Amino acid sequence: MCLICVSLGYEPEDNYLIACGSPTNKSVGDRVFLADNFDSRFLSTPQNISVSTNSNSISSTYGSELFQSARLFNGTSNYTFPIKKQGRHLTRLYFFPFVDEDHNLSIAKFSVSAQTFTLLKNFQPQSDPVVKEYSLNITSDNLVLTFIPSSNSFAFLNGLEVFSLPDELMPDSVRTIDSPREHLNLRTQALETVLRVNMGNQRVSPQNDTLWRLWVSDGSHLKHSNLVEFLSRIGAVNDTGGLTQNIAPLSVYGTATALQSQSDPNTYANITWLFDVDPGFEYLVRFHFCDIVSRAPRELFFNVFINSLFVARDLDLSNLTSNVLGAPFYMDILTGLSDSSKLNVSVGPTTSYNAYPNAILNGLEIMKVNNSRGSLHVAETGIQSSKSSSKLKVWLIAVSTLGLFIVILALVLFAVCRRRRRRRRLAHIATNGGSLGAMKKSLRKYCDLAEKCLAESGVDRPTMGDVLWNLEYALQLQTSESPRPNRELSDPSLETSVSNTQFSMGSVSDLAGTSMSKVFSEMVRAEMV
Ligand SMILES: *[C@@H]1O[C@H](CO)[C@@H](O)[C@H](O)[C@H]1NC(C)=O
Ligand SMILES: *[C@@H]1O[C@H](CO)[C@@H](O)[C@H](O)[C@H]1NC(C)=O
Ligand SMILES: *[C@@H]1O[C@H](CO)[C@@H](O)[C@H](O)[C@H]1NC(C)=O
Ligand SMILES: *[C@@H]1O[C@H](CO)[C@@H](O)[C@H](O)[C@H]1NC(C)=O
Ligand SMILES: *[C@@H]1O[C@H](CO)[C@@H](O)[C@H](O)[C@H]1NC(C)=O
Ligand SMILES: *[C@@H]1O[C@H](CO)[C@@H](O)[C@H](O)[C@H]1NC(C)=O
Ligand SMILES: *[C@@H]1O[C@H](CO)[C@@H](O)[C@H](O)[C@H]1NC(C)=O
Ligand SMILES: *[C@@H]1O[C@H](CO)[C@@H](O)[C@H](O)[C@H]1NC(C)=O
Repeated sequence: MCLICVSLGYEPEDNYLIACGSPTNKSVGDRVFLADNFDSRFLSTPQNISVSTNSNSISSTYGSELFQSARLFNGTSNYTFPIKKQGRHLTRLYFFPFVDEDHNLSIAKFSVSAQTFTLLKNFQPQSDPVVKEYSLNITSDNLVLTFIPSSNSFAFLNGLEVFSLPDELMPDSVRTIDSPREHLNLRTQALETVLRVNMGNQRVSPQNDTLWRLWVSDGSHLKHSNLVEFLSRIGAVNDTGGLTQNIAPLSVYGTATALQSQSDPNTYANITWLFDVDPGFEYLVRFHFCDIVSRAPRELFFNVFINSLFVARDLDLSNLTSNVLGAPFYMDILTGLSDSSKLNVSVGPTTSYNAYPNAILNGLEIMKVNNSRGSLHVAETGIQSSKSSSKLKVWLIAVSTLGLFIVILALVLFAVCRRRRRRRRLAHIATNGGSLGAMKKSLRKYCDLAEKCLAESGVDRPTMGDVLWNLEYALQLQTSESPRPNRELSDPSLETSVSNTQFSMGSVSDLAGTSMSKVFSEMVRAEMV
């Protein structure tokens, strides 16, 4: 028992544990969260407001103690923590929106930032207790956490942890897959824990982790659970190699999800887990392995995939752990940017070695990496990616519009030349301002249109219907019969053609294809009159 106490004894240099809004200190497991009621040394806020609930029905794997009181911030508020040891610090924020006589915390809406990073934006905690966890490299003398209420709202916080992380926890850089760069320098990145998973379908609670981390069980994330078996062989872990329990507890390495051992030896199936992620971010994924299934080294060879891409081919754990069977091993990888809201992790036996087909995974951590704007908040990148995709669309439209313009110009020139030959008509056009003037006018119209299509913001850009209508108008200017634009075109056949085209305007190819031929036929028709 005492051996366990000693091995769990990580003592962070910086260690701030606060029970927000609580009049008394609160013990959570082996730690004491300090009361911050009314005299917090670290907090700067417009007004001290503490709220509490005596609800006993709060259910959370982090315990209920911290969720029963809260600080309410009715204006921008700061926590400023002096930092003794620069380097990575873990920040945990506890939120539970309860209701007391005067306040309904469910209506709170706010943003949280730390140093230069946006952690949460327009955040509205939903009905359940939630713990958000971030890892930041602090290179200044203070860590400043700022709470900013959204307009006509307020912010709140139930509990807070800020403590130094062991140096060995994070590498300086990480290998990437599906990305133009080979490595990402992690030193200055902010990370948000998405999920920690213990394979073998066993939860590891914060009290059984040296850094008070929660590891959820993997069962509910398995794509197909019929081919797998859950193993628990803590005694098979050989931890003499120096990998500390700060990386992951023995209870993570000593349990695993593997392919069923009594299954047909010709079964080459993958074990696949699915996880919810926010699209538009890169994720640091850490795989924890420990061979608790083999009787001897070099019996187990398997492949590791993320989103169907190879992370490791023919992985041989004994080779990576100097043939020490049962030695813990971990591997980091950075995923590329993806539009998908699912992250898909698989392990599967390899066919390259004459070994019994099996594959295992002991633990998995998924961390969101801040985007180029220093944010971990999803909406911003959502807008960013839709912006870049609509920019691409705009360019395609611009290019096809230009193509259309050139073709029309060629056609007009052709028509003008033909008219020159016949041309009774020349006198008529000349009296209407001359074909050159009309051309100039229509050219300007085309240019205006192209400019509008390239507008930065979507609302400033014309719709496909407008684009077509404007092209039609420019065309009319060219033939110079109808100098004023008229949406309710008098010619019934023209009207149908316009509305038909508006409906077929689903994609850029429509603009380049269908409508072009329609515009052509209109021109030819106008020409033939
Ligand atoms: C809370 O704990 C701190 C540190 O142990 C102690 O100094 C303080 O007096 C305690 N406060 C209360 C209200 O018990
Ligand atoms: C917060 O509340 C105090 C007291 O009611 C008030 O004086 C202050 O103006 C409020 N601040 C904001 C930003 O609403
Ligand atoms: C919080 O800190 C920021 C930056 O350090 C500062 O601009 C702001 O005025 C502070 N707000 C309060 C309420 O102390
Ligand atoms: C608190 O606010 C939420 C969200 O507006 C609402 O659904 C809930 O009914 C409110 N609770 C009480 C007790 O007013
Ligand atoms: C933190 O950042 C500093 C400055 O970029 C760097 O020297 C240091 O290695 C970083 N620490 C960690 C743990 O990444
Ligand atoms: C910690 O792990 C031990 C042994 O696996 C287990 O008996 C105990 O219930 C765990 N504690 C918590 C709080 O889950
Ligand atoms: C654990 O590994 C070490 C080598 O690192 C080895 O000497 C020792 O015998 C192993 N222990 C067990 C129980 O296999
Ligand atoms: C395992 O997954 C990889 C990547 O999705 C796939 O290429 C491979 O065919 C799968 N193997 C089996 C046996 O299904």
